[in-house]
Amino acid sequence: MEGFEYQDNRLHAESVPLELIAEEHGTPCFVYSAAAMERQVEGLRTAFSGQSYRICYAVKANGNLAVLQYLARLGCAFDLVSGGELARVQAAGGDLSQSVFSGVGKTSEEIRQALDAGIGAFHVESPSELERISRIAQKEGKVAPVSLRINPAIEVNTHPHIATGFRGSKFGVPWDEALDTYRIANRLGGLEIRGVACHIGSQLVDAEPIVAAARQLVDLADRLREEGIDLEYVDVGGGLGICYHDEKPPALEPYAEGLREVIGDRPLSLVIEPGRYVMGNAGILLTRVEYIKHTAGGRFVVVDAAMTELMRPALYGAWHAIMPVTKMEGRERRNCDVVGPVCETTDCLGRSRRLSVEEGELLAVFSCGAYAASMGSSYNARPPVAEVMVDGDRHDLVRCRGEVDQLYAGERIREG
Ligand code: LLP
Repeated sequence: MEGFEYQDNRLHAESVPLELIAEEHGTPCFVYSAAAMERQVEGLRTAFSGQSYRICYAVKANGNLAVLQYLARLGCAFDLVSGGELARVQAAGGDLSQSVFSGVGKTSEEIRQALDAGIGAFHVESPSELERISRIAQKEGKVAPVSLRINPAIEVNTHPHIATGFRGSKFGVPWDEALDTYRIANRLGGLEIRGVACHIGSQLVDAEPIVAAARQLVDLADRLREEGIDLEYVDVGGGLGICYHDEKPPALEPYAEGLREVIGDRPLSLVIEPGRYVMGNAGILLTRVEYIKHTAGGRFVVVDAAMTELMRPALYGAWHAIMPVTKMEGRERRNCDVVGPVCETTDCLGRSRRLSVEEGELLAVFSCGAYAASMGSSYNARPPVAEVMVDGDRHDLVRCRGEVDQLYAGERIREG
């Protein structure tokens, strides 16, 4: 995997042995590869070259400040969904004027915060939200840039928990209400219509539904132009899948070509919001084996990482490759479940894996750059773990391991 390869049977992040990172920063620990991130972004750039496009990286996939800073330097803007993510982008020096604020439940406070920060556009999900943004913008003497997130009612082939564009989902403005909702936006004061957006699902292994959704959005843009409402961009969301196990992710060229064709010679630029595609395979979770135990259920490799760092297997039954950091020649591989210390039966990072590993040794859980650290929790009073970014032979701690007292710093013991 780009960024994480064996050299002399020792797994490295670029040029840095993972053993060294474990020694310096302890485990569990996330390790990100700058080269892997850059390769993904460059791939998108090449696929879309010659076209007017913008990459708004989905911060929810991994909002570490160093990750955002690096992506901003590669020319990315951002897709954010909360005041917290907005603050992260600001702290990392990202360009908010090119960024978009998505999400189905923006609070008034978040709307004010984004207006003050000069957000590129609000991606609005309902008439009520339009009215709220209009009211706030007028009160502040500002004009809010808005686009509608439309639900194109498209079924996709992915885990049902991460499909978003089917008819009846909570996301977006229903397709048959799209025109009317634009008319409302056009009537309300304090708003300026910018574009149209959708996001139909995540970890899509086929790009065709994304192109089909784009076709619907472009048709809508044509209808709106006839009514005198000119859009600047069409945002097709994220969703590009990656390879975790044996999935064949969509090739970029037909995806980009399909979108190019759909837009044709219209004066519309394209926005994409990839999250997983950029970060998924650019990170691993480094963990140490604490114990090996046997029960009637078989052999359990108990590691120091858990569902608190990687929730995807527990939440979606997701599969992540698990490999030894040091490959031992001539050792027998045995069937085992790799489990964490958290008190839940679903705290299992990998079921029925064939591994040769002993207590005290290190394992790498792959494809942990996206939706791992960002979905972390402190269940069982486990503080956030360290995060390290590798760039060639350079490795920087980009998040210090949290302390337990930070977890309860806001709590109070009652007096008396
Ligand atoms: N744009 C919007 C509006 C989104 O809701 C999302 C993801 C993205 C972009 C980025 O999608 P991506 O390119 O990463 O597929 N926790 C789940 C994934 C949830 C995705 C939610 N929305 C997982 O671990 O698989």
